[in-house]
Amino acid sequence: MQRRKFLQYAAASGLGILASGYLYKYRQNDVVGTAAAARNVARTPLFIPGNSGPLGILDISDAPLTLNARATTLPLIQGKPSPFLIYAAQYDDKDYQNPIIRIKRGKQFNARLQNDLTEPTIVHWHGLHVPGAMDGHPRNTIAASGHYDYAFPVTNRGGMYWYHTHAHNLTAKQAYFGLAGIFMVEDEDDLAVRTALQLEPGVTELPLLIQDKQFNSAGELEYASNPMQQMMGQLGDTILVNLTPHPQLDIANRLYRFRILNGSNSRIYKLAFVHGEKKLPYTIIGTDAGLLDQPYPAQEAFLAPAERLDILFDASRLRTGDEIALKSLAFEAMNNDMMGGMGGMMGGMSGMGMGGMGGSSLALGAEFEIMKLAVTHQGVATPSVPPRKLSTIARIDTRKAAVRNISLTMQRMRWLINGESFEMGRYPIESRRNTVELWDIQNAKMSMPHPMHLHGFSFQIVSRSNSPSQVRKLSQDANGRMVTDLGWKDTILVWPGETVRIAIDFTNAYKGDQIYLFHCHNLEHEDQGMMVNHLVTAV
Ligand code: C2O
Ligand code: CU
Ligand code: CU
Repeated sequence: MQRRKFLQYAAASGLGILASGYLYKYRQNDVVGTAAAARNVARTPLFIPGNSGPLGILDISDAPLTLNARATTLPLIQGKPSPFLIYAAQYDDKDYQNPIIRIKRGKQFNARLQNDLTEPTIVHWHGLHVPGAMDGHPRNTIAASGHYDYAFPVTNRGGMYWYHTHAHNLTAKQAYFGLAGIFMVEDEDDLAVRTALQLEPGVTELPLLIQDKQFNSAGELEYASNPMQQMMGQLGDTILVNLTPHPQLDIANRLYRFRILNGSNSRIYKLAFVHGEKKLPYTIIGTDAGLLDQPYPAQEAFLAPAERLDILFDASRLRTGDEIALKSLAFEAMNNDMMGGMGGMMGGMSGMGMGGMGGSSLALGAEFEIMKLAVTHQGVATPSVPPRKLSTIARIDTRKAAVRNISLTMQRMRWLINGESFEMGRYPIESRRNTVELWDIQNAKMSMPHPMHLHGFSFQIVSRSNSPSQVRKLSQDANGRMVTDLGWKDTILVWPGETVRIAIDFTNAYKGDQIYLFHCHNLEHEDQGMMVNHLVTAV
């Protein structure tokens, strides 16, 4: 608390240079304290979603679904109730909170958002190819006690999508306090993997919703949005998986499928399974918008806010009693260059890492454990090699595509897209329906990593250039792409100094002009205006 006040003061008064020595010592203590705490901490069994209740799997039939956005309390830490926001639903006589909505590809989805909050909200279907009016654009934000009706066919590939609030200027806070859930689309490719590997959803195929949160001593969620957190993004020092702090999953020695969503406001993870000092291999089989063409081996992978990964972890050669940690490995946060670029205001604090400035003692890029996996029982022998071919990914034909330059910069403490900050009535990017474009998303050198997200369409990564070495180390083709770049995407992390070229096919079947968005999924950046309208005009 003292430190945060001091930081606010330091930031607001330009005392950064004086502050640096004092803060550096402070941080070192924090790091030691956090590591010690992590060793002694009591573990909680990972919460596994059932068929009702919190995160319960809700199979959509023909009946429409009503999601009630409402305030509640939820015990997250040591049984202490914390303020929380949920989408409550009743369906087939069952109660749900933030349900995992599950639907078959091709089905019609009918839902109503009922706003039982005391402030405006709207819900967005992240990654789904819906018409503009169904997208949950912030212009459709509804007032308290209002409602919004959605109806659209689910045309997406099988995969893990999600839904979350998109109320302008309130998205970060509302999402942080809970307004987010998983939206699973199933198709034949997806079921084929499940069958081939004898996976059982809820037992050996599990969703992992990863979020970092900050708690006060009363066990309540804290969203302290000082100017520094607004600019850098909210970070928390407690990692929740499926809302479980310090989770442990007891496993058998067989193969598991984890479907991972980074639902954090701003934290990037570098995922690895670690046994003692040794990294264990895992297999990446899918990205944001469904399965890859084939399985790819990996030892580590970055996962930025809003990104998803579908992975297989083979525990069949492990022994009962073995403990494995799903970790986020250390990486370079790459916010250092920026510090010089803020008019010297932050001078001297550059070695601090963002965490120290964000009110969290866990800096971006620090190493920490996300979840413990304990091999507690013997598995029956099951196949542990995934099918060679998982799905078909037709590359977008870019021969006639126009190239669009997108710059990510900062000016006067604001993050900008092509020099623009969000304005509801402006349409800085306009594309024509049924055309293909290449976007060169170029992040300034003095910047932060920005997870950039496009509404309404999935895209493909064509190349990465000027990538930092920690990205180049993971790249596996001549275009600088990592395994996580090889599938269909809707969110892509662009590192400082880097240019990522993406291909987008703006083909859809919707009549008239459609209004979508392109924005940074660091939710504090988004709320601050790192977002632009994207108009897709009818041919
Ligand atoms: Cu995940 Cu504009 O959204
Ligand atoms: Cu989205
Ligand atoms: Cu950003």
